Amino acid sequence: MSQHEIIAALDVPDSKQAAETVRRIGDGVSFYKVGLELFIADGPETLRMLAGEGKKIFLDLKLHDIPRTVERATASCMRFGVDLLTIHAQGAAAMTAAAAKAVRDAGAHTKILAVTVLTSLDNTDLSAIGVTRPVGEQVLSLGKLAVSSGADGLVCSPREAAALRAALGPDALLVTPGVRPAGSAVGDQKRVATPADAIRAGATHLVVGRPIIGAADPRAAALAIREEVERAAAEHYR
Ligand code: C5P
Repeated sequence: MSQHEIIAALDVPDSKQAAETVRRIGDGVSFYKVGLELFIADGPETLRMLAGEGKKIFLDLKLHDIPRTVERATASCMRFGVDLLTIHAQGAAAMTAAAAKAVRDAGAHTKILAVTVLTSLDNTDLSAIGVTRPVGEQVLSLGKLAVSSGADGLVCSPREAAALRAALGPDALLVTPGVRPAGSAVGDQKRVATPADAIRAGATHLVVGRPIIGAADPRAAALAIREEVERAAAEHYR
């Protein structure tokens, strides 16, 4: 696990701004996350633009439906050559297996990532929906279920990464948002970690939004984060 990826969250409203952002970042980033806002506005156009620029794609749609629907939605995503696709682990084993089957049937290289408990939820929110165990336990339990059902990895908070790495072994992908280089604005994120912290906790991919796309020089910001990640990885994995 010596290769770590930095994924820039393309949190912009339309494909025109997406193209402009990708142009400004240039060779600073080769992997982009497209989430619901941009996908609903201009999804296919944006994904074609990214593929045309030779960029890797993390399609963050957090699919959650009956297995057949998720299988077919996943198959539709395969048209765009996405590298990472998210589903909700709460869809349970059959839904996760259906997403993995769609990837296999397409002969695609896409990796399926499961989201366990949204980081916007706390213990009180869980108990309101009938989940009585604490967030940390629920994350571990759903994470193990997802990976044993065919997911290639998880999206998780950097604070959850070490426990998940220990529980899931060396092969699972762990993709962590909430990453802030030391000294950068936290924004609305409550629990952040530096890129180096995330790597030391076992993350394989770091999702970084505003610290890159909101920077005065986004290419330079991305390259500085890459340098920190490579330094941390070299120390951690030597
Ligand atoms: O700008 P920032 O670096 O906070 O962006 C982080 C990205 O990761 C956003 O697209 C956000 O929706 C996403 N994300 C997150 N926390 C999660 C899951 C996804 O910040 N738990």
